Amino acid sequence: MSERPFFVFPKWSDWLTKVIVISTLIIPVYLVILIAYGCSARTLNVNYAPKQPVPYSHAFHAGKLGINCEYCHTDVKRAAYAALPPTQTCLNCHSLIAAKSRKLQAIRNSYGTGKKSLAGMSVPWIKVDDLPDYVYFNHEAHVNAGISCLVCHGKVNEMTRVYQAKPFNMAWCLNCHRNPAPYLRPRNEVTNLNWTGKNKVKLAKDLGLTVATLPHNLGKYLLKRYHIPSVKLLTDCETCHH
Ligand code: HEC
Ligand code: HEC
Ligand code: HEC
Ligand code: HEC
Ligand code: HEC
Repeated sequence: MSERPFFVFPKWSDWLTKVIVISTLIIPVYLVILIAYGCSARTLNVNYAPKQPVPYSHAFHAGKLGINCEYCHTDVKRAAYAALPPTQTCLNCHSLIAAKSRKLQAIRNSYGTGKKSLAGMSVPWIKVDDLPDYVYFNHEAHVNAGISCLVCHGKVNEMTRVYQAKPFNMAWCLNCHRNPAPYLRPRNEVTNLNWTGKNKVKLAKDLGLTVATLPHNLGKYLLKRYHIPSVKLLTDCETCHH
């Protein structure tokens, strides 16, 4: 009886070869897509700071000049979207101040005093903070619950160019939704990014109380006063995915 040859390829090896060939072709493509997506600005986005069509500085306007966030982000307390200011808002000042500055070319284009073909088009600002579409977010709810822009956007009043300050992933959102009390402050201080709460006289005034009647635990007090929903509701999948 002759010995069986060392290499016997059974029938299924044909099929196996196909699987190996297909996987060697597909796996690199899959990895490239995964890495490209994983490292794209939207998912790995802390510190993402796109160059804007106008080198607008929050450090100068919101910081040094002290213009309130709501002067430009007018809907932040009444709508889901904070919204960017229309061109007219800039021209309230810039029709006179630095009116001819090259840095304001995109503003003039939009307003109709620059490139005629761009007249009436909004300034093509590039979005910095961007959640995936399957996540619901609402500014009004957070800001009126006494959560400052600072908690989610960082010290915007010190940023020359805005960057994403926090990782907007599920764990980060849930970390607060499980225990929001320490992040709460009087509603009228949400746009004051330098607020500390250490000035008791001011704090009492903000809350319509006296220094003597100030609560020991501000967070717990505001949780009740602002009717913040239960942790059960805040951590329900339906709250953010519906
Ligand atoms: C004079 C108008 C003006 C004021 C005041 C202002 N902003 Fe803005 N803000 C803008 C403009 C214009 C943009 C879009 C360009 C950019 O990103 O720099 C913007 C962008 C932003 C963004 C990034 C939005 C995105 O694309 O995700 C955040 C966050 C923001 N502002 C927060 C604030 C906060 C907080 C304050 C108050 C401390 C404030 N802004 C005050 C005009 C203003
Ligand atoms: C309340 C008034 C006010 C508003 C509103 C305002 N700015 Fe300004 N901005 C100023 C002042 C004051 C300066 C400093 C001008 C200077 O140094 O000559 C300035 C400077 C600038 C500069 C630098 C100009 C240069 O040549 O160095 C840019 C760019 C600019 N602003 C963009 C904007 C944009 C975009 C908006 C609207 C989102 C806006 N500003 C809204 C007052 C304002
Ligand atoms: C609880 C966190 C949180 C707070 C508080 C918050 N933001 Fe935002 N902000 C976000 C998130 C998340 C986005 C991205 C939303 C998206 O992509 O749907 C965003 C987006 C923005 C944008 C871009 C336009 C938009 O609505 O998508 C601006 C401008 C902005 N925020 C300004 C502000 C200002 C001004 C305040 C304070 C008055 C503030 N935000 C408070 C989380 C927050
Ligand atoms: C610093 C604390 C904090 C952070 C961070 C935070 N939230 Fe909230 N969120 C709250 C509080 C408090 C409420 C309850 C507001 C209310 O209804 O009074 C709330 C309410 C909500 C609601 C219900 C809004 C409505 O219309 O009833 C949604 C949706 C939500 N948050 C989504 C998010 C998402 C998505 C993120 C992350 C990108 C996030 N939140 C980050 C504190 C936070
Ligand atoms: C407070 C808001 C919030 C709640 C509550 C919440 N999610 Fe999410 N979820 C998010 C955000 C924000 C993202 C986007 C994550 C990213 O882009 O990294 C996300 C992403 C996801 C994803 C996509 C995969 C991933 O991790 O990126 C799944 C699946 C998911 N959530 C399931 C759930 C389930 C199941 C629940 C209930 C147990 C839940 N979520 C509750 C905010 C929330």
